Amino acid sequence: MKLSERMSQIQPSPTLAINTKAKTLRAAGVDVISFGVGEPDFDTPEHICLAAVDAIKDGFTRYTPVGGIDELKDAIIIDFQRNYGLSYGREEIVVSCGGKHSLYNLAQVLFDPGDEILIPAPYWVSYPDIVRLADAVPVIVPTYEEDHFKLRPEVLEEAIAAKSKGLILNSPSNPTGSTYTREELEKLAPIVLQHGLTVISDDIYYRILFRGQPWVNLSMVGDDLRKQTIIVNGVSKTYAMTGWRIGYLAGPAEVVAAVTKIQSQSTSNPNSIAQKAAVAALTGPQHCVDEMVAAFEKRCDHMTSRLESLPGVRVIRPTGTFYIFANFSSYYGRAYDNQVIGGSLDLSAYLMDKVHLAVVPGVAFGEDSCLRFSFAISMEQIDQGMDRLGEALTALR
Ligand SMILES: Cc1ncc(COP(=O)(O)O)c(C=O)c1O
Repeated sequence: MKLSERMSQIQPSPTLAINTKAKTLRAAGVDVISFGVGEPDFDTPEHICLAAVDAIKDGFTRYTPVGGIDELKDAIIIDFQRNYGLSYGREEIVVSCGGKHSLYNLAQVLFDPGDEILIPAPYWVSYPDIVRLADAVPVIVPTYEEDHFKLRPEVLEEAIAAKSKGLILNSPSNPTGSTYTREELEKLAPIVLQHGLTVISDDIYYRILFRGQPWVNLSMVGDDLRKQTIIVNGVSKTYAMTGWRIGYLAGPAEVVAAVTKIQSQSTSNPNSIAQKAAVAALTGPQHCVDEMVAAFEKRCDHMTSRLESLPGVRVIRPTGTFYIFANFSSYYGRAYDNQVIGGSLDLSAYLMDKVHLAVVPGVAFGEDSCLRFSFAISMEQIDQGMDRLGEALTALR
């Protein structure tokens, strides 16, 4: 059957592909260590699961309002007040089937064919294709390792053209683990305002911050910025709820109404039971988040030192998320069995074949010099994986 033209424009998610390969090898009995995981390795906290059980027992199993139940919107509003110091009304919040769905809906309601959307690289793999699916044009904007891959104001200014409509900012960042400071955002702010860019602030890792780094995003820098920014967030990463599929956005009421309209003709409401679980997540005890973040921070520090001890590897110590983006380009041009490692794709394939390590090649995020390692795995696995990595690198000539 002939598929639509649109389908030739997009790629399947490379991070999901790596994980599928790791799972297939594991099923065949191979001892794979996967640094490819994009989700916390912790279970969803019990009080959240019990809220879902209660929802089922109470028969909360029917359609809900398309944009989410008021109880969940109120819990999200409280969270924005608590963590951002920002006040929103129910008409400025819409709940979707995951943060990815919120981003997809936003692109559909905001972008027209030919609109250019600025995406700093390294970027989360789905941004360019979500933009393409709205017939808009992703414009990749470079960042530099020496700036911890954060956008320089003059580079943003230079990238802006007549058709520039939006900017997608992700902090803390997947894949780099870097986080913008208030001072850095304050330097980007006048450019965003002057050119009237609509900002999508993807804050999905906002609670996974290390070493006391304070939380800040562009909306928090000034009221005028807030009017131009739409915040995307969700419970997936913060509460180890990736499978529950609850994400949300906060922004101008007309954008929220448009997203709700799209959902009314596509998915209808997000899962009713998962919405009740998300209420429990946002309004219940928060020490589960603190414990998870403390564990991530410990692993982050340990893994950073292990990577730093490898000759020729450069690491930026993450300030958040559960990813490390490390530069391996000094190994490009070396070979094994007469096969030359040309870039991050070759190196990740080599690591999988030679020592059964799954890592995501940086090229998937628009930065070929690096590999992305997730530390959402145990310390034991991290150590075993780092041993194997050292062994595989030593074998390159
Ligand atoms: C940067 C970023 N944004 C958004 C998402 C989407 O998360 P979810 O759809 O599970 O809420 C992810 C998930 O990997 C992500 O890494």
